[in-house]
Amino acid sequence: MIQLDDMVKRAKEELDAVKEIRSLDDLKVKYLGKKGELTQILRSMGTLAPEERPAAGKAANETREKMEMMFENALASINAKVADIRIEAEKIDVTVPGTKNDIGKKHPITQVIEEIENIFIGLGYQIAEGPEVESVHYNFDQLNTPEGHPSKDEQDTFYFDPKMLLRTQTSPVQARVMEKTKPPIRIICPGRVYRMDEVDATHSPIFHQVEGLVVDKGITMGNLIATLQLFAKKLFGEDTKIRLRPHYFPFTEPSAEVDVTCWVCHGTGCNVCKGEGFVEILGAGMVHPNVLRNCGIDPDVYSGFAFGLGVERTAMGRYGISDLRLLYENDMRFLSQF
Ligand code: DAH
Repeated sequence: MIQLDDMVKRAKEELDAVKEIRSLDDLKVKYLGKKGELTQILRSMGTLAPEERPAAGKAANETREKMEMMFENALASINAKVADIRIEAEKIDVTVPGTKNDIGKKHPITQVIEEIENIFIGLGYQIAEGPEVESVHYNFDQLNTPEGHPSKDEQDTFYFDPKMLLRTQTSPVQARVMEKTKPPIRIICPGRVYRMDEVDATHSPIFHQVEGLVVDKGITMGNLIATLQLFAKKLFGEDTKIRLRPHYFPFTEPSAEVDVTCWVCHGTGCNVCKGEGFVEILGAGMVHPNVLRNCGIDPDVYSGFAFGLGVERTAMGRYGISDLRLLYENDMRFLSQF
């Protein structure tokens, strides 16, 4: 009995120290297993006197039950501790601020192009596109551009060879569309264009234009002015006026440079418009009869107007951006403002 009590006491101490199920199993084998301590004690009972055996047997059975209970309790308490640790580890603190996924947005240039597209789509225009690697034929010849015109100069234009270049304007799309489409034609063509310019606050060798072209019977300068007036109001606000100044473009006659009311001073004069009250945004005119003829359209039956708008300049006005380079540097602090 002393031996049994002593064993229970030792087992209890050892059980108290156990932290994992594996060591608990080892202990169980040590005490209650086939070769365990209790079994050893039971075996040694054979040496007892016959009259002592029943009491000893009873005590041994009680001890076994007691110890089995001890092991069960120990298992339950280890399981509970493990569960507590897991619950603690997996706890979600709903007050911790979440991780924010940054959602991208459209570049201001794309936004302005889409705004312009939407205005003209609303007027019944279609969107046309042309290649950025263009031929001299479409970029210049079809557009009535004479030999010796400055834009043809190698100093101004990126040539691949004498016949191919990076388009200097979106105007070649006019010719491509007129060759393929019978009037009435109403299109705009947004796109990238290339010129050999040094980068500064208002110049970049790569920039964007939106070309416009309308060809039908009876189209006049009046249609051009009304269209541009309506467009300027929609893009820059109802109080916007346009101003046409006579100019020369090879592919239009008459030609004009078109200004809009300054978006900063609204016409009173400031340093953005250099005191003019107006800022130039596009070139325009009546399509030259030679251009119509080059593209297979009879200038005695049809007439048309065209315009070409600088997107960067328009975006700068629309958003009050003072340096064109900001549009290309991809600084998120700048871009995320629009
Ligand atoms: N292509 C001209 C340029 O890049 C802009 C332009 C002027 C386009 C008059 C036109 C136009 O369609 O009619 O400077």
